[in-house]
Amino acid sequence: MKPVILYCSQTGFTKQYAVWMAEELSCPAVPFEKRNTVDFSRYDTILFGSWCHGGRLKRMKWFRGMLPEWKGKRKLLFAVGASPAGNRGIEEFLKGLEAQEEGIRAFYLPGGLCYEQMGAVSRAMMKLFSFMIGRKREKTPEEENMARMIRRSYDISDRACTAPILEAVRKGETSRGGKKRREGAGG
Ligand SMILES: Cc1cc2nc3c(=O)[nH]c(=O)nc-3n(C[C@H](O)[C@H](O)[C@H](O)COP(=O)(O)O)c2cc1C
Repeated sequence: MKPVILYCSQTGFTKQYAVWMAEELSCPAVPFEKRNTVDFSRYDTILFGSWCHGGRLKRMKWFRGMLPEWKGKRKLLFAVGASPAGNRGIEEFLKGLEAQEEGIRAFYLPGGLCYEQMGAVSRAMMKLFSFMIGRKREKTPEEENMARMIRRSYDISDRACTAPILEAVRKGETSRGGKKRREGAGG
């Protein structure tokens, strides 16, 4: 097992998870901005972490574009968002990510919100989102909770949440249910 972690982070939560996992796996954690410095042929396992943005994952297009080059390697995605783990919709979101390419495992990690580190556009979008969810008449309990939470910065990140990802990397899992694909490690 020779993993490398590549992460895209705006306000620091995804970076924190990448650093925690890099410590556990004794492997590099590289910010997206430095992706061109990575020689991916040296690694057999690639973890790509990014943050949720309007129900999508930032830089997912780039990740998908890299898949042909990474054929034969194990690929794991971790999505970091503002929702608590276990929220409805997350499972569907992960299945959607996994469906984009056979053999990819996707995980969700709860991050939080950090308005102090956000760019102006992100702050404005969150303000709009907050306004829209706030004025929605019939909110689900999750929406009610979200409307309350997003008024200010919060941190629900938890190192312990990385355990299933670390286990999947160590076991060489590339699909749900723990199946191991019998492919060359590619490099
Ligand atoms: C414009 C915008 C859209 C967002 N959309 C979502 C979303 O759809 N789902 C979610 O869980 N979190 C969403 N978030 C919250 C971020 O994913 C969350 O703050 C994450 O922890 C940021 O990670 P980072 O610190 O690595 O940048 C959004 C944040 C912004 C600024």
